[in-house]
Amino acid sequence: MIIAVDGPLASGKGTIARTLAAKFALPYLDTGSLYRATALAVLDAGDDPADAKAAVRAAQGLKADAIDESRIRTADAGAAASKVAVIPEVREALYKVQRDFAYQPGGAILDGRDIGTVICPDADVKLFVVADAETRARRRWMELQAKGDTISYEEMLSQTLERDARDAQRSDAPMQAAEDATLLDTTSLSIDAAVAAAIAIVEKRQKA
Ligand code: CDP
Repeated sequence: MIIAVDGPLASGKGTIARTLAAKFALPYLDTGSLYRATALAVLDAGDDPADAKAAVRAAQGLKADAIDESRIRTADAGAAASKVAVIPEVREALYKVQRDFAYQPGGAILDGRDIGTVICPDADVKLFVVADAETRARRRWMELQAKGDTISYEEMLSQTLERDARDAQRSDAPMQAAEDATLLDTTSLSIDAAVAAAIAIVEKRQKA
């Protein structure tokens, strides 16, 4: 079984995908970590994330363990990730590793922005997880604060809106729900309720 979980920043897709992976015993890939690690490599080299040459070089040279670095989780790395993600050659460089992961024997679960549309258009289950921008910005701000990040809520909200727009409006693999995706709005759901709703969607699809 292949499960695709897409959605915007801090919609709850990561938590949902991780829990589904444990529940259905599937290997899990957070594809955003590939874009974040690429962006961090560009920043570490002193280059501009919007510089296509530098970003493509970073994506092509990405080491497997780069996605485990805690520094890819900062708000700055997230903002830079959405800039490298606009570049078609960067997406192309990261395509095979995502496809290979998804189509391993036994299936997998991946979360991102274009899993149900581009990486796994034939996924068995597709979820598109959404929530109000203010709710998402507050969630991410609280997560980052707990890790010692000094970003303000106002800055987090403006980054959220900026990232939503950039991810949804890019020409290559824009963030959008696949036609056959099930929409899950987590705005007023607790984590447990969101996860339970996602499990119910997967189980319903399995029965169908
Ligand atoms: O966790 P969060 O929602 O903040 O973002 P992420 O999933 O770590 O992704 C960071 C950025 O990478 C996104 O804003 C997208 O621009 C990009 N991304 C993408 O373009 N395609 C994916 N499949 C995953 C992430």
